[in-house]
Amino acid sequence: MEARKLGKTTAEVPVLGMGTWLFVGNLPDNHVDHGAIESLRTGVDLGMTLIDTAESYSFGHAEEVIGTAIKGMREKVFIATKVSPENFSYRDVMKAVRGSLRRLKTDYIDLYQLHRPNPYVPLEETMRAMEDLVEQGAVRYIGVSNFSVDLTKKAQAALSKNHVVANQVSYSLLDREIEDKLLPTAVRDRITIIAYSPLAHGRLIDGGTGKTVLEDMAGKYGKTPVQVALNWLIVKDDVIAIPKAFQINHLREDAAATGWRMAPEDYASLNEVFSKVTPGW
Ligand SMILES: NC(=O)c1ccc[n+]([C@@H]2O[C@H](COP(=O)([O-])OP(=O)(O)OC[C@H]3O[C@@H](n4cnc5c(N)ncnc54)[C@H](OP(=O)(O)O)[C@@H]3O)[C@@H](O)[C@H]2O)c1
Repeated sequence: MEARKLGKTTAEVPVLGMGTWLFVGNLPDNHVDHGAIESLRTGVDLGMTLIDTAESYSFGHAEEVIGTAIKGMREKVFIATKVSPENFSYRDVMKAVRGSLRRLKTDYIDLYQLHRPNPYVPLEETMRAMEDLVEQGAVRYIGVSNFSVDLTKKAQAALSKNHVVANQVSYSLLDREIEDKLLPTAVRDRITIIAYSPLAHGRLIDGGTGKTVLEDMAGKYGKTPVQVALNWLIVKDDVIAIPKAFQINHLREDAAATGWRMAPEDYASLNEVFSKVTPGW
């Protein structure tokens, strides 16, 4: 698996990680735990060692299942979880992290992300908690998610000893909003973009003009449309992607989206064609 430096750190993360939103259902559903654990372990074997989750996913159950799946291989994986906006006060961040650590059955989180902005809690207060967690060794790196350029700048200004190393945002061939301002600014400031919903939550391969183009490109390179769509993301120096794939065949297909390149004119052609495709949501 290709790897990339995380923000301004020396840590390396795989260009493809695993997303876990709805991985074990919306509400906690123990019936799928066994399959979820198998998928997570297979993903790690395939090199997708970054696992993205959140305290809110399945009301904490996603973190619990991940904790079980990574038993005995904590050092091998890079855990990225998120604190929910309603927990952004100093006291609540401290409480939330304890919950995540307990469910993940670990004593540190590799990347702790602010799930989305909360205008009602001063960012300075939240970031003070995040820095204290780094100081205490409970968190290695601080990240944000769904933050604008201005808010990311504000988040960085609120930190005195650490960098904002990543911003997790929606990015796929069908959602290219970040290309105007956020992506160039992140590249300049060396903040890794963690592309969520890289397959547009599955819509990218459901049909439409885009699908035909992806199929043509896939045929040319002996790959699949999904692999072309993921490869288009991860060729960008400061971008990594976190597709969610419960099914093992999907995981295998996704993992093989790395380690090869298309001709520059083909990436340009995808850019061009998809700039005219309406996402349809
Ligand atoms: N920070 C945020 O606010 C935020 C918001 C949304 C998502 N996220 C993160 O980003 C992750 C990924 O985003 P997402 O879950 O919205 O959507 P996604 O990764 O764009 O799409 C997931 C869907 O694609 C399917 N899929 C995956 N690989 C496939 C393949 N090779 N062939 C066919 N279908 C394939 C999955 O099916 P199966 O599962 O059945 O295999 C699933 O239905 C989330 O899980 C979460 O960790 C973060």
